[in-house]
Amino acid sequence: MNKISPRNLIMTLTALSIGLSGCSTSRRSTSAISERPFGTDSQGTPVTLYTLHNKSGAEVSICNYGGLVTSLKVPDRNGNYGDVVLGFDNLADYIKDSPYFGALIGRYGNRIAKGKFTLDGTTYNLATNNGPNALHGGLKGFNKVIWKARPFQSESGPSLELTYLSKDGEEGYPGNLSTKAVYTLTDDNALKLEYTATSDKDTVVNLTHHSYFNLAGKGTILDHVLMINADKYTPVDSTLIPTGELQPVDGTPFDFRTPTAIGARIGQDNEQLKFGNGYDHNWVINDNTGAIRLMARVYEPTSGRVLEVLSSEPGLQFYTGNFLDGTLKGKGGWIYQFRNAFCMEPQHFPDSPNQPNFPSVVLKPGTVYHNTIIYRFSVGH
Ligand code: GLA
Repeated sequence: MNKISPRNLIMTLTALSIGLSGCSTSRRSTSAISERPFGTDSQGTPVTLYTLHNKSGAEVSICNYGGLVTSLKVPDRNGNYGDVVLGFDNLADYIKDSPYFGALIGRYGNRIAKGKFTLDGTTYNLATNNGPNALHGGLKGFNKVIWKARPFQSESGPSLELTYLSKDGEEGYPGNLSTKAVYTLTDDNALKLEYTATSDKDTVVNLTHHSYFNLAGKGTILDHVLMINADKYTPVDSTLIPTGELQPVDGTPFDFRTPTAIGARIGQDNEQLKFGNGYDHNWVINDNTGAIRLMARVYEPTSGRVLEVLSSEPGLQFYTGNFLDGTLKGKGGWIYQFRNAFCMEPQHFPDSPNQPNFPSVVLKPGTVYHNTIIYRFSVGH
């Protein structure tokens, strides 16, 4: 007969009680990684969906097409688990028409003006896939390629390593870029992303993550309460390219140093908000020393869920889902409406290759690019 130790019994009971507390799937209390087929890409290459389950009962699903986070289930203040990211039920929908839901973004997160930059005297031309500008790595960015996947148990929780070699000239960028992204769901409910890259030629690189969050798991995000640890932001022109200035947030709707509802000032008569059709800007996060620090904190009052965003990067792109317009039907039939989600993209500033005053995005051979992003979940009251 199997012996049940007191500890195992507690774990089993915890799993059972969480499983009965109103969530749709049963919860386990051990760390595990499961995988299942997730369709094929347009070339017929099979894609796998990996689910990391941590000891606390949270789980995240990631596929090796685009490094997409397709679901992220964390508890509310009553212990009910809910999915806090937008996405689709199947790969075909992601391939057909996705505004970067859950995507790994590269080689260059956000915009490069007119799709051009000059490095070491050579001008590189990129596809202009966003009005006059290049956006999020091009026509076939890192969000659309197949990554090599290796699931493993790390010390802090279940992990998935994704690697991809982007060839010299891919999407117009110089250098063979070896890229690695390690996703870990820590046992204290943080999704940690560790990006590294090396190149055999001088190049530019700016990787980030593009989950669309809604901490209530439904409806508008305008009542979510936001803090951003930034005294300055980078204003943009009408095509969302930074003007090059670092402007104080003081006295503007961009001041989130004191927690404020996202919707409190979004409708103000403000030229910058008009250009973005809401918030779609880069904040210059305080204390930029290269160390990981708190960038932003979001609290959703009805569920009590809290998301804290930490990173080593200088900037944070905060985007309020201003391009969602009710034309996409997502997971479980949810029709995604204007401002049903927000993105928090820790990264270097947009258009840095053309902005001499911004922190450099140049990667040289023999050096390693690093970006660590932590999305930490908890509950508040
Ligand atoms: C980023 C950009 C937005 C938009 C989204 C994707 O957040 O800044 O303007 O392009 O990605 O739709």
